Amino acid sequence: MVVASVTPAQGRKVKKFVHQNVEIPSVEPRILCVETANTSLVLAVRENGALHQLHYGSSVPAAEFAGMKPVIGRYSSGILAYPATGGRYLGEPALHIQYADGNHNTELYYTGHKVENRQGVVSTCISLKDYVTGLEVNLVYDAYVQEDIILQHVEVANTGKTPLRLLNIASGALHLQADKYLLSHVNGAWAKEMQFESEALTHGIKVIESKRGTQTTQCENPAFLVSLNTQELQEESGEVIGGALAWSGNFRISFERGPEKHLSIIGGVSPFASAYPLAGGESFRTPDMVWTYSANGAGGVSRNLHRWALKYRLHNGDRINPTLLNSWEGAYFTFTTQTLTRMIDDAASMGLEMFVLDDGWFGNAFPRNGDNAGLGDWQVNSTKLPEGIDYVASYAHSKGLKFGIWIEPEMVNPDSELAHNHPEWVIQSQGREIYQERNQWVLDLANPAVQDFVFSIFDSVIKLSPSIDYVKWDCNRPIESAGSPYLGIEQDKLYIDYAQGLYKVMERIRAKYPSVLIQCCSSGGARVDYGQLQYFDEVWASDDTDGLERIFIQYGTSLWYPAAIMGSHVSTVPNHQSRNVTPLKFRFDVACQGRLGLELQPKYLSADEMKFVNRCVSSYKGYRDIVFTGDLYRLGSPYEGSFYGQMYVTPDKSRAVVYCYCLHFDVLGGEGVPFRLRGLDPSRKYKVVEQNVDSSCWWGNGQSFSGAFLSSGAFKPALPSLYSSAIFLLEAE
Ligand code: DGJ
Repeated sequence: MVVASVTPAQGRKVKKFVHQNVEIPSVEPRILCVETANTSLVLAVRENGALHQLHYGSSVPAAEFAGMKPVIGRYSSGILAYPATGGRYLGEPALHIQYADGNHNTELYYTGHKVENRQGVVSTCISLKDYVTGLEVNLVYDAYVQEDIILQHVEVANTGKTPLRLLNIASGALHLQADKYLLSHVNGAWAKEMQFESEALTHGIKVIESKRGTQTTQCENPAFLVSLNTQELQEESGEVIGGALAWSGNFRISFERGPEKHLSIIGGVSPFASAYPLAGGESFRTPDMVWTYSANGAGGVSRNLHRWALKYRLHNGDRINPTLLNSWEGAYFTFTTQTLTRMIDDAASMGLEMFVLDDGWFGNAFPRNGDNAGLGDWQVNSTKLPEGIDYVASYAHSKGLKFGIWIEPEMVNPDSELAHNHPEWVIQSQGREIYQERNQWVLDLANPAVQDFVFSIFDSVIKLSPSIDYVKWDCNRPIESAGSPYLGIEQDKLYIDYAQGLYKVMERIRAKYPSVLIQCCSSGGARVDYGQLQYFDEVWASDDTDGLERIFIQYGTSLWYPAAIMGSHVSTVPNHQSRNVTPLKFRFDVACQGRLGLELQPKYLSADEMKFVNRCVSSYKGYRDIVFTGDLYRLGSPYEGSFYGQMYVTPDKSRAVVYCYCLHFDVLGGEGVPFRLRGLDPSRKYKVVEQNVDSSCWWGNGQSFSGAFLSSGAFKPALPSLYSSAIFLLEAE
């Protein structure tokens, strides 16, 4: 049975609980268990109706918890499954409401629960109520049984007649029990996203959050790992809890450790400047918090999340997205039709499958010849492209390539017709400067008229040609000096309504264009979250295309997000962001970890380089199904030592692709670097073939070895110098 509802000691007398004026109906104490194949979340309904959490982690027999007393610890209320401000709870709240009379107290009591089974997903909805105010709360836990994933969200209904304010409404809360906790998360900046950090959690509250409004993942990502009873992150062993909030607005995830040994994790929409009003009769649904647990270290957590995302969360998660040439770093804003058709010819001759026309193709009164003008005016620039988009897109199709186009529909340059026609659509705070960032302003997506406009831009751009297969959706600045002319005095709604406005637009786009490929880009990886990924096919992980830098960015991304979403491009040297010079082979060997693309001007490649590009693209096409659908095993960490490796293995263990890199010179690399391969069947034999080389860096190249041998440390490719790299394809006999 997947969800157990265990009622202890039958025939027990149940007390009545009376507040000053309100009688709380008595309930039968019971244990509720949300279970997946290898994990259990155990909750207890107490005699007074309080809902406590007793366990989250490896599978346990739920019935044995029936006699367990509430753990009181630091709060007299005990460890509430979803703690609200009020009553005897004095810790960090998941729910904090201010009622019309100014009161801040909410006390939630169990009123019932329902369990529904929907093909591999078991949904448990637990209903709670505050008997003084009539507030109703549903805690919903969706258990993805085979993937060991639990999604939690909360629905709050104001059943009264008077309005209230949601000062905080988290998607979920989870309480852990261990001696030590190690928090791992990522931090970053533009061109330096997803930089990994780990820290031991001490007493007090640690918060990861974003207040950026848009571009909410440029610095922190709403995702984390908590390792139990260890001082360092272990890749393949140890107990690790992973979490990710599926939300594209401001977020806050807190980790509170008190004097006893519990750790409480609360994650959801950020309460920052968002005292959200809820009128009588209205309700609010939070985004999903994604939880998982693995006893197989960080690798186990990543694989759970990846499998779940591919099967249930990503838009078209079962699709293999095409290789491509993107025009940005090769042409920037300076091109003509001929520049593009020549790039398309070159892309075709390199074996690529799509050409993407990036920024710079639009604007006439304010031509988009730089980032200072034209945003908002989505008409084809007739000087650069007098033949129109359809001509270029059809040309790509005639060469056997798909065609993609760039838009940034949430933004506007002051120098644009749109800004002149609709100044009231710009996010602004009355009487204050509207700050520019990259010479642009943000449109107010809280306003339904702006939502209609943004939808209409997508709708009309895609109609520029029947040959448009892909749209790159960009978003290049955060919200500053926040204010919505549309919302009037309800400015507390702005951040939440903006994110929900974006989702409303995406719902409409996906209803009309379910199969168009859409990339989520935000100055690189400033919008990588499981909220966006319901609608988008992939992300642009970073504007930093330097192979070395990308190793770290892609490592951080891989902790929570599958390789299938990761646009990863080979660009020129010196790299335009870092000025670093890395070998072409190293750049390919890194870009082939994700959805491979090129982002350079091909006409500057030598004949030998062109030949090599062809070879790499063709080899990638031979194994990319493993990248898109396989299980990821990281072989160490790029933050430790001189060498790093990773591999993907098909679910049936019949094929694998292994990547090896030297990130710092180490004299031992010439001798051969031991990589203990993972995820292989020890008893099967695999033929090992290094890709894209005439002479291999491993003596065993071309031969077959057992999975046991390959996992023993005997696989030792030579990586003699900085940027030495190799890709091996393993196929079972
Ligand atoms: C930022 C993106 O990350 C780049 O890839 C490119 O599309 C530029 N914007 C275009 O302005």
